Amino acid sequence: MDKRTRRLRGSEQLRLMTRETRLSANSLIYPLFVREGKGIAEALPSLPGQIRYSPDTLAKGMETAINAGVRSFLLFGIPAAKDERGSGAYDEKGVIQQALRNLKLAYGKDVCLIADVCLCEYTSHGHCGLVENDRIDNDSTLPLLAQIALSYVSSGSDVVAPSGMMDGTVSCVRKALDANGFTDVPIMSYAAKYASALYGPFREAASSVPRFGDRKTYQMDWHNSREALKRIQIDIDEGADIIIVKPALAYLDIVSRVSRRVNEPVAAYSVSGEYAMIKAAAASAFIDEYRIMCESAVSVFRAGADILITYFAKELAAAIKKGDIG
Ligand code: PBG
Ligand code: ZN
Repeated sequence: MDKRTRRLRGSEQLRLMTRETRLSANSLIYPLFVREGKGIAEALPSLPGQIRYSPDTLAKGMETAINAGVRSFLLFGIPAAKDERGSGAYDEKGVIQQALRNLKLAYGKDVCLIADVCLCEYTSHGHCGLVENDRIDNDSTLPLLAQIALSYVSSGSDVVAPSGMMDGTVSCVRKALDANGFTDVPIMSYAAKYASALYGPFREAASSVPRFGDRKTYQMDWHNSREALKRIQIDIDEGADIIIVKPALAYLDIVSRVSRRVNEPVAAYSVSGEYAMIKAAAASAFIDEYRIMCESAVSVFRAGADILITYFAKELAAAIKKGDIG
């Protein structure tokens, strides 16, 4: 026999040497929820193991993740009050603005802070855009998104991540940042975001369940993959620096196609429902949580992603350090 693939699997050292996929804690982004208030660190029932902080407890709350090696964080805000125009999102004293200022004081350049830019957590109707005559009005939403992004960057955000899937967002945000001297701040765009049922636990955690209708008029139909390529190309042409594909596990074909096609870094977002499924199945002892967590994270990088956004960031960083993956 001339072809024995087994030769490369004869010892642990051979297996490690010939591995194709390598992981680093530097490639992980940890999503965090920040709510208005003081002294809060509350468990999230829809996301077991995740904690929602107020701006004053957040820096301390991030210590375990930072000690595990996680350096990048994606911040979602939950304001005290919501209104039609989501004004809490671009309030200088808003919950994310406070959090960003506190975190920059505490950690400076040791962390990369990414602020999610969207209206859904801040609007009374729970949609990602302004509502006019029961429809989401794309164009009148854009100046607000630019204003939100500018406010976050002025408060210390290193990156902005517009997630609302409104057409023209990236160019509008880019123009606003450039006009205010923030030419070096990158935009990480949720370019291919599907209208997935996997966002349920997040919407509970962020209290952003739409009050009417659904998000199918602006998020993508999961029967389509060429549409993702089209959206991504548009965002890149508008100036997106990092591309997000979301969700991750059921969309690895998209991650694979996109990462081969574009020259920008590709991030896959393993969303709340993916996390909750693993947690729930493990709680019933149907699966081994640690091994499934490791296997699914590796699969995302194997598919071609450069970055993984995951609620398991701490645990994965620890698994990498231990040598169980990577
Ligand atoms: C909306 C937004 C969503 C998520 C992040 N920002 C989804 C949605 O409600 O449509 C989901 C993230 C997750 O499920 O982990 N701008
Ligand atoms: Zn939104």
